[in-house]
Amino acid sequence: MSTTKTITLKKRPKGKPELSDFDFITSEVPELKDGEVLLKTTYVSVDPYLRGRMIDAESYIEPFELDKPVVSGCVAEVVESKSSNLSSGDFVTGLLEWKEKQVANADNVKKVDPSKAPLSAYLGVLGMTGLTAYFGLTDIGKPKEGETLLVSGAAGAVGTVVGQIGKILGMRVVGIAGTDKKIEMITSEFGYDEGINYKTTENMTQAIAKACPDGVDIYYDNVGGEISEAVLYNINKFSRTVVCGAISVYNKTELPKSTSVQPFLIKKSSSMQGFVIFDYKDRHPEGIQQLAEWLKEGKLHYEETIQEGFDNIPQAFLDLFEGKNKGKMLVKV
Ligand SMILES: NC(=O)c1ccc[n+]([C@@H]2O[C@H](COP(=O)([O-])OP(=O)(O)OC[C@H]3O[C@@H](n4cnc5c(N)ncnc54)[C@H](OP(=O)(O)O)[C@@H]3O)[C@@H](O)[C@H]2O)c1
Repeated sequence: MSTTKTITLKKRPKGKPELSDFDFITSEVPELKDGEVLLKTTYVSVDPYLRGRMIDAESYIEPFELDKPVVSGCVAEVVESKSSNLSSGDFVTGLLEWKEKQVANADNVKKVDPSKAPLSAYLGVLGMTGLTAYFGLTDIGKPKEGETLLVSGAAGAVGTVVGQIGKILGMRVVGIAGTDKKIEMITSEFGYDEGINYKTTENMTQAIAKACPDGVDIYYDNVGGEISEAVLYNINKFSRTVVCGAISVYNKTELPKSTSVQPFLIKKSSSMQGFVIFDYKDRHPEGIQQLAEWLKEGKLHYEETIQEGFDNIPQAFLDLFEGKNKGKMLVKV
């Protein structure tokens, strides 16, 4: 029986996650049974939502167990197969363990075609984050041509795609991100009309009013917290807030005191809706088809920050909370 390097959750993070919350162990790779495949990991996706799975609390997805492997979206190569659906040399995606090698049930992974798009794209623009951008904006945001779309976390994996879809649909698009370089990137590469660096802006309410002179019709919220409070003062009548993520509060040990949203929503007949991408499981093929079409037509571009080496997976995850990524954060194993 062969062995593999494995990353487990050693401790539940308190506040900001640390490297010492993870452990590197050697685990055994079991013999293949019928219907299974032996996989070699190629790319690992690190995502802010994994922070939520590190807390022992009820959520839309089971928490990680201590001393068990961490799991996230991965691309892997089939090196041996006992399934009629997959052959060695095929590439697959799926929710896989942070292991260099592992055995998986062939029904739990999906074959991807490296000739249609680079393998890494299946974890970003053609994967979970692309689909989140697509369904969050089109289904919950209900965009209309000529409206103003404001996006927080605009330079990240979801944000870069949301902004571009907004432009494809004929909207004025404004992005909020944490460095001048990111603002430069979203305006020059991703079509954003304007950007606001929230780390150097003293009064976000005023800055949003200036960048969105006609008010905000859709707010695509990736971050929550103070940035999102400032948006409330700028929402239009019948505006929609798409509550996608709240990364600014994921590491808080106590729920922050926040502005009461109800008076703002009442005054503007405005709506606010949260969602998780799993809600759209049955419609994923439709989303992937549309995103792939826009990619092929050159209407959609994507950015990736790729760290190298299996041992760097925990650090890449921590780096998300420091804003060290542009576009999708991945690790190439
Ligand atoms: N609802 C769903 O189904 C779903 C699915 C996928 C993702 N999400 C959520 O969507 C959001 C974006 O996810 P992603 O995968 O695209 O991540 P990402 O935006 O690629 O990476 C995280 C980014 O968040 C920003 N950030 C970190 N700490 C922050 C803070 N305290 N305040 C404001 N911004 C902060 C950083 O950019 P700056 O340099 O700009 O600060 C960082 O680069 C996350 O909140 C995630 O949980 C939700």
